[in-house]
Amino acid sequence: MLIFYTQNDLVSHLNSITTSDSSVGFVPTMGALHEGHLSLLKEAMSQNNIVVISIFVNPTQFNNPEDLAKYPRTLEKDVEKIKAVSNKIIVYAPTVDDIYKGKTVSKHFDFDGLENQMEGKFRPGHFDGVGTIVKRLFEIVKPNYAYFGEKDFQQLQIIKKMVAKLEIPVSIIGCPIHREANGLAMSSRNERLTPEERKEAAIIFKILKQSQKLFKSKSASVVNEWVKKTFDKTPNFQLEYFQIAEEDTLLPCLRKSKIKKYRAFIAVFVNKIRLIDTISLN
Ligand code: PAF
Repeated sequence: MLIFYTQNDLVSHLNSITTSDSSVGFVPTMGALHEGHLSLLKEAMSQNNIVVISIFVNPTQFNNPEDLAKYPRTLEKDVEKIKAVSNKIIVYAPTVDDIYKGKTVSKHFDFDGLENQMEGKFRPGHFDGVGTIVKRLFEIVKPNYAYFGEKDFQQLQIIKKMVAKLEIPVSIIGCPIHREANGLAMSSRNERLTPEERKEAAIIFKILKQSQKLFKSKSASVVNEWVKKTFDKTPNFQLEYFQIAEEDTLLPCLRKSKIKKYRAFIAVFVNKIRLIDTISLN
């Protein structure tokens, strides 16, 4: 399996193997791979003859230095997991310098307001960091298709917006959330939970499912109140936000409309570890 650590080496290899008939599928990740990432790779493998995965913990999208320092870095294990999917997959694992060339800063993006909701409110600058790295990676890899998990639904919508506004020639494919047996959405951050916390974190998906049920007959504000009250009774979990929002604009649902698609979004701290999840409501 080929692993490249510099963009020059990756680009010259890709130039040497791509033809006008090639289709390049790309899965950008920050490593600590789990079944969710592997399902993106499998999807990419089924639709493209060249597949690239990047493994890069992008410093500019972290607003919390402790979160960046503690983010799991497990390149060797990741490579083994990728090999088990296919040893034809090309790995790009650059250094910070290879990407940022000594200037580790984000560009500023206008995502038509999508960046101001939820994650954007609670993680200032996060989506400028995501936009900066994803745009840079697209320029390097030049994929035809790029695969992103729906767990980060706001990120997925923002990347679709960026690609449309900047006319980047890539199709963005959103893929379903993978869950652990107890319903907890798979995330690299789950590795930092104790076995007990991991078990208890099943409550997040349970609450999302219950919200889905409630939303059929109740307003968004009634569901919001119920979620807040439920978390007040679970002291190990601190609710950061729960928002029912319209899928396209990500604006909070103030009055339900039959023609709009809604989703619930949640961010919860479990002993300083921040977990997010989302569910479609209708
Ligand atoms: O979703 C992620 O893992 C990251 O935000 C991404 C898209 C790889 C950019 O660093």
